[in-house]
Amino acid sequence: MLCAARRLLLRLGPTRRRFRTAVASQAEDENCAAEPVKVVFVDRCGQRIPVQGRVGDDVLRLAQRSGIDLEGACEASLACSTCHVYVSHDFVDKLPTPDEREEDMLDMAPLLQENSRLGCQIILCKELEGAEFTLPKITRNFYVDGHVPKPH
Ligand code: FES
Repeated sequence: MLCAARRLLLRLGPTRRRFRTAVASQAEDENCAAEPVKVVFVDRCGQRIPVQGRVGDDVLRLAQRSGIDLEGACEASLACSTCHVYVSHDFVDKLPTPDEREEDMLDMAPLLQENSRLGCQIILCKELEGAEFTLPKITRNFYVDGHVPKPH
């Protein structure tokens, strides 16, 4: 079952980047009311870092807010793969199928696995409580070489 924020983003299609920012901002404004979702990041050294997000957060923004070194060079516009994460096997099937643009970007990600996804496309739902997102050992920034965006 898709959460409301994810359904809205899927409906918006190619223009979703602008609306994603608006939806994310709205979700942050409503964070006090949103249900918490506890997940774990596993960093490039293998350290497990428990983090509490909220329903409607995307994994990239949650990671950046939590000090996790997940780059997100294109700021969720599906033009890079620097937000590549491995989703724990128990949870990967709970995510909506990646759309064609996400698949295209994933195809260019180094160290691709069956459970690879783009963190900026994963919207937290209660069903993801306990999920683990592991950062791959390397990423390739072919969007803007060396550009490291600041979280909003
Ligand atoms: S931040 Fe570039 S595709 Fe996710």
